[in-house]
Amino acid sequence: MFKKLKEYDVSNKRVFLRLDLNVPVKEGKIKDDSRITAALPTIRYLLERNARVVAASHLGRPKNGPAPEFSLAPVAKRLAELLPGTDVVFAGDVVGDDAFSKASALKEGELLLLENLRFETGETKGDEELAAKIRKFGDVYVTDAFGAVHRAHASVFQAPKLFDVVLAGFLIEKEIQYLKENLEKPERPYFALLGGAKVSDKIPILKSLVEKVDGIAIAGGMAYTFLYARGEKVGRSILETEMVGTATAIMKRAAERGIPFLLPVDHVIASSMEDPVPTESAKIDDNSSAFDIGPKTIALFAAEIKKAKTIVWNGPMGVFEKEQFRKGTVEIAKAVADTGAVKIVGGGDSVSAIKVAGVENRITHISTGGGASLELIAGDKLPGVEILYEKGQ
Ligand code: 3PG
Repeated sequence: MFKKLKEYDVSNKRVFLRLDLNVPVKEGKIKDDSRITAALPTIRYLLERNARVVAASHLGRPKNGPAPEFSLAPVAKRLAELLPGTDVVFAGDVVGDDAFSKASALKEGELLLLENLRFETGETKGDEELAAKIRKFGDVYVTDAFGAVHRAHASVFQAPKLFDVVLAGFLIEKEIQYLKENLEKPERPYFALLGGAKVSDKIPILKSLVEKVDGIAIAGGMAYTFLYARGEKVGRSILETEMVGTATAIMKRAAERGIPFLLPVDHVIASSMEDPVPTESAKIDDNSSAFDIGPKTIALFAAEIKKAKTIVWNGPMGVFEKEQFRKGTVEIAKAVADTGAVKIVGGGDSVSAIKVAGVENRITHISTGGGASLELIAGDKLPGVEILYEKGQ
């Protein structure tokens, strides 16, 4: 087992806190601060105990060192707004003079946020020298960076190896409980709902889930590769011809296991996304694309959702960003919310979809991870999770 934040007295300690504050920023403005607010309980807990906290995160994928558009400065500003009465200090570098002088001037109950970890090119390479520098920021390593646990990066995987005390923050504890521990022994029936544009993004999770669940429903753009593999006409809908073989193999495996494998039986089609005139139809003609599931599909999926005791959902049912193609995702979100099952939603788009449907308060767990949540649900061993278990022994 890993060690939880409350299992160690962090009072007055120097803490290095790895967070995932990788939020969408456009022209210096944060578009969605969910990951920042999700980190607050752990930050507050540490500050209330007078720890001196050096927090760090990545943001975006800068390629060659510092780049102003990837600065964490707007995140530091937002943190200060969300933590009134707390001094939030911001460092202009990661392991440079500014960071170390501000870290050593830090008083008890104060928070220093370092600049974007990926401004150090050693971060994504898992560089041990960078990890050794990070080690100097504290005596205790705390992580709540769930969205980054699938990366064997210096601050995620190498740095915690160097600390004697490694603790899981409140967010990561919850993520591991729902996405790993609950799903290792799910209450059955266990049902998976997968959507999104591409099959190729979801192959590992599909291959894993088809062995574990008691039923699968597939919608969104990815469904059309499966329908094509079944010999149906998909018009101009998204089709990944190179994935047809994989789709066929996954459906064959579901049939061997005797589990329901549901695909759309009707659609909302239009000739183009640019000027859409949506029509409900059981067939897709050669000049149309499907952009959402139709009413019969909603009813078919909802009936299966009703029976489930555990539901995992990743990916929208259609192009829910456009109002004309939102109904399928919204209705399915409501159907999921209405069940008494353990309901787990993971991945950026699915979380937005849940918010659009206004049911976020009725979902058991909404993951802050994108790739990380998919890989953990698939049952993969993730560096940032494995190291927590290793150090917790
Ligand atoms: C995410 O947004 O999924 C995480 O912050 C990880 O980011 P990355 O895919 O750039 O490593």
